[in-house]
Amino acid sequence: MLQRLDKIISSQGAYTRSQAQKLIKSGAVCVDGIQIRDRGFKLDAEKSDVTIGGEPFEVKKYVYIMLNKPKGVVSASSDSREKTVIDLVPQELKRRNLFPAGRLDMTTTGFVLITDDGDFAHRILAPKSHIEKTYEARLAEPVSEADLKKIAEGITLGDGTECLPAKLRVIEDGENPLVEIKIVEGKYHQIKRMFAAVGNGVIGLKRTKMGMVELDSTLKEGECRLLSEKEIADIEKQP
Ligand code: URA
Repeated sequence: MLQRLDKIISSQGAYTRSQAQKLIKSGAVCVDGIQIRDRGFKLDAEKSDVTIGGEPFEVKKYVYIMLNKPKGVVSASSDSREKTVIDLVPQELKRRNLFPAGRLDMTTTGFVLITDDGDFAHRILAPKSHIEKTYEARLAEPVSEADLKKIAEGITLGDGTECLPAKLRVIEDGENPLVEIKIVEGKYHQIKRMFAAVGNGVIGLKRTKMGMVELDSTLKEGECRLLSEKEIADIEKQP
């Protein structure tokens, strides 16, 4: 696929679009050994060698993006009415086949992984992969030790669906406790239904971690950044 040189350089995360344009203008960028000063020059990054300041510039095949999802955005690639998580990806990171690897409800906030690597997404979403997902749930009612124990041991939902054991930790006690919960599945509305099964409600839900990767606390809601190589590997790691 032919793409603009400035877009290719900025899509790898090390340079912003305007830094990439300055680099090109300065003469630091070569494509297949030829200096290119035209930022709009088009090339197929998979077929050409790009260097910056004489150093090879690696163009990665796939991108892996961490988004801090706000409320009111759907976890889908496209939607005829609602804003999607893909609409929040900045232009320089946009690629044609991006999709969210896993869904959060419209009202849930936090870590959504966006990629164009179908095999990776397939692996992490496969039920048998048991990737741990960590959430913070703000509850509608006080919660008892007995209720937490039921969920921790593997609760049966209202419709008979059985959940695997979960790990729970009360972060803040009180009328509307804040509970950290770690699950290794991704059933529809799972956490809301787990607490509903003990007669409680979830009034706020945020995903804070996928595998061993924490949501970057410097990302404001609606912001995203590329994952590092280490983070990409750590998504699939077990605690
Ligand atoms: N569980 C839910 O109930 N909702 C989510 O968005 C994620 C997990």
